[in-house]
Amino acid sequence: MRKAEEIPPCCEGHDGQESIARTNATGTTPMLPVLASWSSSFVDDLALAREDLLGSLAHVTMLGAVGLLTPGDCARLRDALFDMLDRADRDELHLPPGEEDVHMAIEGELTRALGDVGKRVHTARSRNDQVSTALRLHVRDRCAAMLREVAALLADLAQWADEETAIVPAFTHRQRAQPVSARFLLVAWAMPIARAGEALRFALTQMSACPLGSGACSGTSLPIDRALTARLLRFDAPTVNALDTVGDRDFELDFAWAGARVLLALSRLAADVIDFSSQEFGYVRLGDAISAGSSMMPQKKNPDIFELVRGKSALGVANLVHLLTLVKGLPTGYNRDLQDDRRAVLGTAPLVLGALGAVRAAIPHLSFDDARCRAGLADGATQATDLAEALVKRGVPFREAYRAVGAVVRAARDGGTTLATVGAVRAREAHPGLDDEALGVLVPERAVEAKRSTGGTSSEVTGTQVGHLRAVAHELSFAAQEVPSLAALAAGLREEGVP
Ligand code: ARG
Repeated sequence: MRKAEEIPPCCEGHDGQESIARTNATGTTPMLPVLASWSSSFVDDLALAREDLLGSLAHVTMLGAVGLLTPGDCARLRDALFDMLDRADRDELHLPPGEEDVHMAIEGELTRALGDVGKRVHTARSRNDQVSTALRLHVRDRCAAMLREVAALLADLAQWADEETAIVPAFTHRQRAQPVSARFLLVAWAMPIARAGEALRFALTQMSACPLGSGACSGTSLPIDRALTARLLRFDAPTVNALDTVGDRDFELDFAWAGARVLLALSRLAADVIDFSSQEFGYVRLGDAISAGSSMMPQKKNPDIFELVRGKSALGVANLVHLLTLVKGLPTGYNRDLQDDRRAVLGTAPLVLGALGAVRAAIPHLSFDDARCRAGLADGATQATDLAEALVKRGVPFREAYRAVGAVVRAARDGGTTLATVGAVRAREAHPGLDDEALGVLVPERAVEAKRSTGGTSSEVTGTQVGHLRAVAHELSFAAQEVPSLAALAAGLREEGVP
């Protein structure tokens, strides 16, 4: 093995570009190409180019406003940055990959375009606050996109609930338990999605402060205006403490958590659709347009889309665990480990949006099979609790009523009949109160309508629940609207002009 000093010095970055972040103190010998390339996040970072350019635009506009840039230099920097932004919008921004990350690649491009003026862009800035700003802009934008889709899915489910008339068994322990309306089941599917939407909305509050101006870890001695950059990028305020800011990825944790919550909610909905569309249950029909076949078994009509929704949620959980593990035990301040957040952060929104889009596309092709659902309730067993409650309404202590109905169920089973057909004669042997009128509650519709307690199944109470879903959908889409798009940020920065 050769000694390090025998390896010929190379004055270029790993792909032939000179690297910006080196001085005589670092050493005039560049980093080994193999390590420069291995440690670069450039390829993953490219997805953050527009966010980085917007952060730089706010930064140079502020530098102009406080006099750290002349109006002429500020204008040249802004023009060059807007030009790069326009090219990025058209997918025509081709940055050479020699730098450690997209942030330095952009600075390099600026310097190549503007010469000495480009060297002023990094005044009073470190990549530490720069990267954190770009990430927040990205995550905020994606949070809004996810909120919009969550709200739309909730509205879709509410709409379906309004149109649905079937009655289905609800399950505990995956055993038929009690009758509910399909409408009520749809609300039960929607509620975890609504709560995941609330988690997304909370995540937005965790990325509402602007890191720019935190510098490497302690701010700057130059007279910057952090409130201005915060305003230009539509953050509520600058972050509080520079040292905390540069090592803070809590907003990513909240984002990944909320994303995982959306995926988990969808995966549980998917599990129901998969079961209910099987021959064993038969409660839900899959339309042809969302069904998959088997390469060998000609009879198959498989729920692959829902299995994939369930399966893909694993990666959402993995992204969250990745970020939690990345941050765990890091010392205060910036650590390069944090660069490895990229794939988990950038991968979360496409995963979540993909699953939301798949479920939304599939919903119009799902329908409840009324006859099969009714067959699941026909023996009356799922209405046994309603029968016990009919006795309670007549003053019988619940435990006594419960035992009496249990005895009727057993007698019916032993006699080769069912609770629905056992008749008052046999039922009264178990309890004198079990007359024809009491047995009337065994009709599934009656059982469903009788549950008027808050959160229950009656049409009126379920209607309130559907109304709640619509209200949440409205609030979530409103929260999404409040988030400025990247295009709106660019327009605002253009309008601001050279100070
Ligand atoms: N390349 C890193 C990233 O994208 C930024 C590094 C910032 N600071 C540093 N001293 N190396 O997260």
